[in-house]
Amino acid sequence: MNISLFKEICSTYATGVTIITSKNNKKDYGFTANSFTSVSIDPLLVLFCLNKEAKSNIALKKNSFFNVSILSNDQKDICFQFANNKLTQKERFSGVETTDSKNNIKIISKSCSFLECRITDLISAGDHYIYVGECLNGGINKSELNPLIYHKGKTL
Ligand SMILES: Cc1cc2nc3c(=O)[nH]c(=O)nc-3n(C[C@H](O)[C@H](O)[C@H](O)COP(=O)(O)O)c2cc1C
Repeated sequence: MNISLFKEICSTYATGVTIITSKNNKKDYGFTANSFTSVSIDPLLVLFCLNKEAKSNIALKKNSFFNVSILSNDQKDICFQFANNKLTQKERFSGVETTDSKNNIKIISKSCSFLECRITDLISAGDHYIYVGECLNGGINKSELNPLIYHKGKTL
């Protein structure tokens, strides 16, 4: 099957949008991910996929921590700011309101909800890594917020 057809088919699958944040040597990392999904209830597991070339891999090791902020449809700018690989990590967080969670990793304020997780498994899958994380804590910021949707390369 050719790559462009594969991409086009996958783009017809609508997803939410998350910002995955982490920390390494006191430096904050964050990137936009729509590959986030829940995996298991017992134990509570989620996963996301990250390109092997992505800089955030430095901050994501087995047993290290990450947070997932599920964006609202008011947060399109944040979605593209954290996907912009021309920006430094510091620039990505610039102008974005955040709070620190118990694990000292940033959560995007006014997102729909968030999860605090610890990496339990790191699986190599083609040109991506699949990170599996156990959820330790989480919360809903505002239940009336609508989610940001990603569909056919556009945010809705
Ligand atoms: C809506 C959207 C969803 C994305 N989802 C993913 C994803 O799930 N996995 C991934 O590797 N990159 C994804 N990206 C691209 C990354 O956010 C982008 O490559 C980012 O620069 C990676 O950051 P880093 O290299 O600093 O780690 C997505 C981009 C957008 C706009």
